[in-house]
Amino acid sequence: MKKDLIRKDRKKEHIEYSLKSTYESDTLFKDIYIEHNSLPDLNLYEINGGTSFLGKNIKYPIMINAMTGGTKFSQEINRNLSKIAKNYGIPMAVGSQTIALRDKESYNSFKIVRETVGEKAVVIANLSAQASLEDVKFSMDLIDADAIQLHLNPAQELVMKEGDRDFKGVLKNIGKIVSNIEEPVIVKEVGFGISKDVAQRLYDIGIRYIDISGKGGTNFIEIENRRDDEIDFSDIYSWGIPTALSLIHCRSISEDLNIISSGGIRTSLDILKSLVVGANVVGIGGQILKELIEGGYEVANSYMEGLIYKLKILMLLTGSKNIEELKKLPYKIKGELKDLI
Ligand SMILES: Cc1cc2nc3c(=O)[nH]c(=O)nc-3n(C[C@H](O)[C@H](O)[C@H](O)COP(=O)(O)O)c2cc1C
Repeated sequence: MKKDLIRKDRKKEHIEYSLKSTYESDTLFKDIYIEHNSLPDLNLYEINGGTSFLGKNIKYPIMINAMTGGTKFSQEINRNLSKIAKNYGIPMAVGSQTIALRDKESYNSFKIVRETVGEKAVVIANLSAQASLEDVKFSMDLIDADAIQLHLNPAQELVMKEGDRDFKGVLKNIGKIVSNIEEPVIVKEVGFGISKDVAQRLYDIGIRYIDISGKGGTNFIEIENRRDDEIDFSDIYSWGIPTALSLIHCRSISEDLNIISSGGIRTSLDILKSLVVGANVVGIGGQILKELIEGGYEVANSYMEGLIYKLKILMLLTGSKNIEELKKLPYKIKGELKDLI
């Protein structure tokens, strides 16, 4: 019971401190250069952002990433975020459902997402990569999920006072889950990036979807540090793999590895660059949450509308009428990103 209370408070604190974060880190998307096309033989109103993802058609290759659930407060957030997902025909993941494994009262805060977006939309469940097969099945059933995200968050857990300290057997557990459920399993980070070696180990056990969630946006070392002043972790805020680097490395593994580019995605240019470099879908977390909490539903909805409109403009300015054409565009890598590859 006490653990559940801590979990509920923690969720609220994560939101609060994610908005207060001050440390600025870099996705390194600035080091990706894509050429402008001043002679595009295209009409803006014919630009098509549609693609398929997890067996369904989505209108744009953008998703609202896992953030919340569990309390009345997070139910309201999920209601608003899922309204935005529905408005633009894009997927949405719920926050960790660990709380729902024990607390029936939390169910509606997650179920609201499927209820709002309807059965044709993509909804993704979320649990720790240490979860049991039974818990995965339960979490997916609760929201009629199209896939499960299993999160890897050792950096966050280690800075969290009450967090896990033992990460043995996680890969084996993921292997057990992926070979025992039919629906796709997405393995995700939470803001520190997935390296080529980690992606390869996941690929080798059958994972075909990863969400890289790299460094450059939400920083859980900072968030957890702000929750507790026993040890000061501010000197390691820069830890992690920048999103652009993680994306390039993971993309080199195999064409049939589906990649969600996330971590510090804020602008249409970040989305465009992610897609050109090889992401299948681009995930947004902290920035849309900030728009929603600080500005309200209309502001967050306009933010998404603007992202999509400007993505179409940028697609036109690269001469790409659809996502397939965008993916074939050449790009150049410069600066720090080039040194790291
Ligand atoms: C307030 C908050 C809560 C989060 N909760 C979860 C979670 O429960 N499960 C998870 O897999 N990721 C969680 N994340 C991580 C995001 O899904 C994402 O991977 C990360 O924030 C990086 O993306 P961003 O920079 O766009 O925020 C959370 C992020 C935020 C900001």
